[in-house]
Amino acid sequence: MNELERIVGRKGKVMVIDDDIGMMDAMSVVLKKYDIQVIPFTEPITALENLKNNEYDILIINYLMNPVRGDEIVKLVREFNKEIYIILMSGHKELTPSIDTMRSLDIQAYFEKSSRFDQLVLLIESGFKYIASIENAKKMSHTIELHAIEIVDILRNTVGAKDNFTKDHSDRVAKYSTIFGKYLNLSDEDLNTLVLAAQFHDVGKIGIGDSILLKGGKLTPEEYNHMKLHPLISTNILSACKIFEKSLPLVKYHHEQYDGNGYPTGIKGTDIPYLARVLTICDAFDAITAKRPYKEATTLEYGFEELLNGAGKQFDPELINKFIDCIKQNYEEAKAIHASSF
Ligand SMILES: [Fe+2]
Ligand SMILES: [Fe+2]
Repeated sequence: MNELERIVGRKGKVMVIDDDIGMMDAMSVVLKKYDIQVIPFTEPITALENLKNNEYDILIINYLMNPVRGDEIVKLVREFNKEIYIILMSGHKELTPSIDTMRSLDIQAYFEKSSRFDQLVLLIESGFKYIASIENAKKMSHTIELHAIEIVDILRNTVGAKDNFTKDHSDRVAKYSTIFGKYLNLSDEDLNTLVLAAQFHDVGKIGIGDSILLKGGKLTPEEYNHMKLHPLISTNILSACKIFEKSLPLVKYHHEQYDGNGYPTGIKGTDIPYLARVLTICDAFDAITAKRPYKEATTLEYGFEELLNGAGKQFDPELINKFIDCIKQNYEEAKAIHASSF
């Protein structure tokens, strides 16, 4: 059992690229004895293609090869794979790349070729230890993130106990955001930022007095001014937890308007972060169409009209057209989200 298997529970996979077939054969035999799975390649371009389509933990690559040198191959590898642990080897002590080149290409280890492979085995093992510690750290931070979300969920439920509408509203906004974020081809990270912000954007309503929050009728100007504090209260609450870091601007600016007449800061147009403009539309669409304690639900089509009325005023006009197209494309799903408010 190798180090990686002992710590992470899977066998490590090593790619070796060397045009010296004799050396490669000898190396493969020795490494297999240590239970290291080795996939050899004598042709760098074929190896590159294989590396693009398969998972490897370690790449061992010869420096002096024809027609392409090992460091040039590593440069190409780093364009699409920043994670793989790389060991460069050379049979010529005097002909090795500089330390600066190795650093810039993130080559982690260097092996001087000899018929004894003990040193290479040690380098591979320390590579596996390094990979195992990174994987453990990733698992740990993922667990911590999950705990953090659970804790903030308690907060959301607390708000829900006081004002169930806000919690249900946030869940629906998160669902619209998921559909719209996918339609906009957001990266996984941006989609996550958007959906987290949607789930928690109104959490600051916990800081608004019941007489205002649960008031059925129209708010007085004074009450409305107080209500307008909720994006800042939400931002303040969530800023205590690192997982919300990227979502904070979305939460803070979800009531800003494209024409600058929003709150809390009055920023306008593209000064409002893109994802905040996306969230504002999902938020408003639910506010317009969902059933509320003091008003009946309206149709999705009515929601489209209202959004179009606010295009260029409250909302980013380009995003409005995209949102409407997105909801039309995902009509059944949107209808189900809408219906869950009745
Ligand atoms: Fe809000
Ligand atoms: Fe909201």
